[in-house]
Amino acid sequence: ACVVAVLVIRKRSKGIKWGKVREMLKEIKLKCALPIERLKQIASAMETEMHAGLASDGGSKLKMLLSYVDKLPTGAEEGLFYALDLGGTNFRVLRVQLGGKEGGVVRQEHKEVSIPPHLMVGSSHDLFDFIAEALSSFVASEGEEYKVPEGKQRELGFTFSFPVKQLSLSSGTLIKWTKGFCIEETVGQDVVAELTKAMERQGLDMKVAALVNDTVGTLVGGRYEDGDVVTGVILGTGSNAAYVERASSIPKWHDELPKSGEMVINMEWGNFKSPLLPITEFDEALDFESLNPGEQIYEKLISGMYLGEVVRRVLLKVSEEFPIFGDIIPPKLEAPFILRTPQMSAIHHDSSLDLKVVAKKLKETLGIHNTSIKTRKFVVDVCDMVAKRAARLAAAGIYAIIKKIGRDTLSDDKQRTVIAIDGGLFEHYTAFSDCLERTLRELLGEEVANSVVIKHANDGSGIGAALIAASHSN
Ligand code: GLC
Repeated sequence: ACVVAVLVIRKRSKGIKWGKVREMLKEIKLKCALPIERLKQIASAMETEMHAGLASDGGSKLKMLLSYVDKLPTGAEEGLFYALDLGGTNFRVLRVQLGGKEGGVVRQEHKEVSIPPHLMVGSSHDLFDFIAEALSSFVASEGEEYKVPEGKQRELGFTFSFPVKQLSLSSGTLIKWTKGFCIEETVGQDVVAELTKAMERQGLDMKVAALVNDTVGTLVGGRYEDGDVVTGVILGTGSNAAYVERASSIPKWHDELPKSGEMVINMEWGNFKSPLLPITEFDEALDFESLNPGEQIYEKLISGMYLGEVVRRVLLKVSEEFPIFGDIIPPKLEAPFILRTPQMSAIHHDSSLDLKVVAKKLKETLGIHNTSIKTRKFVVDVCDMVAKRAARLAAAGIYAIIKKIGRDTLSDDKQRTVIAIDGGLFEHYTAFSDCLERTLRELLGEEVANSVVIKHANDGSGIGAALIAASHSN
């Protein structure tokens, strides 16, 4: 009876006033608009925060974390290394044989498993046991050729893609969880110690030689391929960037300056926040109901975990005011996170005349049947608005780094600047990545833009972690 009552209350009058619907969307679009001048202001605000975060711990919303990676790969790295990659929706185990100067990456194998959602919010013990178990079975199934000589330990680069205060290259405490992970007891713990204990429980004899963020791994993996890579960016479930900073520009770094004079900084840019950001009521509600309210505001505007959810919230609001999906509000549309970004991307990229992919996705994911072409077009329009806002904001972040390292003007020697990007959002959402590249060109101006190259660093972070383990081992 309750359900019937709700349905009756929610019954809308027939006939959609499209003029009014479009007006409503126009207003939301206005709030999301990011003209180039505004993007430049956002980039400047981010640059200011970068300085503040480098000056002192806690000096800014941008943590600007020291990675302890002060040597970039030379190509001479050699030997067998393992890597673990934890931080997105999938978890990966990797084995890499590095062949030194001539050989490059001789061989690599990996295994990917998705993380059962209950482990993301369960106990520390269970999560690390799960990881160590996957690693252990990966090692157990390898051939004779990988047998490690008596007395020698296997070495591992651990890509752990959350904010970590590094204590050294191979240890660090978790500052907080992000991206849907939330296990209170791990916060403040050394994640390498947690992993090591779990490996011992599995009887696995392995040494964690390096603890790295995925952005740092992407930067290093990218640099191995191309000597002009200066920054690693992740646009996936979450978003973040790392770049090479002069050690002398890091006032909070009190130890002896590294020989190279450089240090890779993990910005944790996802936590960036500024009154200049185009925050709408939808973003506010999403943030308020999230696992980490008030945190990772920039990430919630630009990363794959959230884009589909923003679209869902807009569609829900519109359908509460106008019967765009029929007389009743589709019940599934009220379920948080039901519309994932890959589905949003499929909707956005539908190029068929009658938008049949849109119709199919609306039916499959939201239980919405029999949509008119007008409604389908409207849904695509909402996706376009949310994706463009994200792409333009991400471009502003990259522009901030380029400015910070002084590559926003042409050098005499026409130095190339290469940005290594990885992550499912960038890789699979073409409308997003195209818009990002266009916006970055616009920000840089044609001439400088010609010296800046965006490269997709496919799964660079795992190889990067192995390379860091190799180049910093003993
Ligand atoms: C989140 C994490 C960050 C990571 C990024 C991309 O922002 O806090 O450490 O690099 O996601 O995976």
